[in-house]
Amino acid sequence: MAALLCARRLPRPRLRRGARQGPGRPYRAALCAELKQPLAVGEVAPRPVLPHEVRVDVHFCGVNFADTLVCRGQYQEKPHLPFIPGIEFSGTILETGTDVCTVKEGDRVIGVSHFNAMAEECITDQKALWKIPENLSLREAATLPVTYGTAILALQHRACTQPGETVLVTAAAGATGLAVIDVATNVLQAKVIAAAGSDEKCKLAMQRGAQFSVNYSRCSLKEAVQQLVGSGGVNVAIDMVGGDIFLEALRSLAWEGRIVVLGFAGGNIASVPANLLLLKNISAMGLYWGRYQLEDFPVFSKSLHSALQYYHQGRIQPYVGKVFKLEEVNDAFLHVMQRKSTGKVLLSLK
Ligand SMILES: NC(=O)c1ccc[n+]([C@@H]2O[C@H](COP(=O)([O-])OP(=O)(O)OC[C@H]3O[C@@H](n4cnc5c(N)ncnc54)[C@H](OP(=O)(O)O)[C@@H]3O)[C@@H](O)[C@H]2O)c1
Repeated sequence: MAALLCARRLPRPRLRRGARQGPGRPYRAALCAELKQPLAVGEVAPRPVLPHEVRVDVHFCGVNFADTLVCRGQYQEKPHLPFIPGIEFSGTILETGTDVCTVKEGDRVIGVSHFNAMAEECITDQKALWKIPENLSLREAATLPVTYGTAILALQHRACTQPGETVLVTAAAGATGLAVIDVATNVLQAKVIAAAGSDEKCKLAMQRGAQFSVNYSRCSLKEAVQQLVGSGGVNVAIDMVGGDIFLEALRSLAWEGRIVVLGFAGGNIASVPANLLLLKNISAMGLYWGRYQLEDFPVFSKSLHSALQYYHQGRIQPYVGKVFKLEEVNDAFLHVMQRKSTGKVLLSLK
């Protein structure tokens, strides 16, 4: 909460022109000045770091579906205008506040922030940074916070997925979807049915570890899952699409199945028919990964430590779908919003 309050007290970002990057100098950033309008790219005046804060030289920043919602005013968090979007990044430490003891200048880190990561520099609380191992590139590292943090908490902390269980995941070829496939198959030894909106996306999901796939733009998800696993159903469903796809995933669950709601990319929020929960002793639950940072920081932090550890052990393989330059930020947003993206979409700040 401290970081959020500090960010609100600080001066809003202002675009300006003409100086080089470095501590104390203006830096380039994407700026949302008006909701539902293209972002501007320009230079922002820096501010001093507070005692507990760190200035990071951002190399890569994630472009998440959530970023597109925030900039349309359709997300659960609504930052004051104008703001710099972006909630995760990888980079190196440029400067530390006087009380900072967890990282030092030059360290390679991943981090999370409250809407200021789509910039060459980003100031964040020292608690929101995790050092990365030498064998992890800054490009791949930027894929980890939101997507792998979410996949790990959804599968392990919420659904308690067990080895040998069957996991159904929707929007399976997207950033979070591929992370769910990766963690479920390669860490948890579960079997994955990938559900996605095109044959190409299904093919990619299979290449990344899913055992079966369903193109839900062409058939009923529930009937296709039934053909694959029989009337018993799947043990775990991770849904990011909502609406009818959520309802079909719910109806695909086995006895004591668990469904985790991650989002509503399709735009519709379904109601849960409670009789379905009763009949098969099903649990329906939600996961809002970022909220753990405020409500239960040890769980939040562990999801990132686990992602880094799994990578270090060679158990997960993040997939970068496309990298855009900062100046192409509006193209990157359209790429995600128009369902063209697969895997993680990144902005390169270098
Ligand atoms: N709760 C959390 O903590 C948390 C964390 C991360 C992500 N999420 C949620 O998970 C979902 C995926 O996020 P992501 O960043 O990984 O994005 P993404 O999956 O890479 O991209 C979104 C995907 O959603 C699917 N989709 C279905 N209907 C859509 C529509 N009408 N418009 C756009 N996309 C549609 C598309 O896949 P198909 O073409 O295959 O349908 C699209 O590629 C989002 O709902 C996001 O809010 C939640």
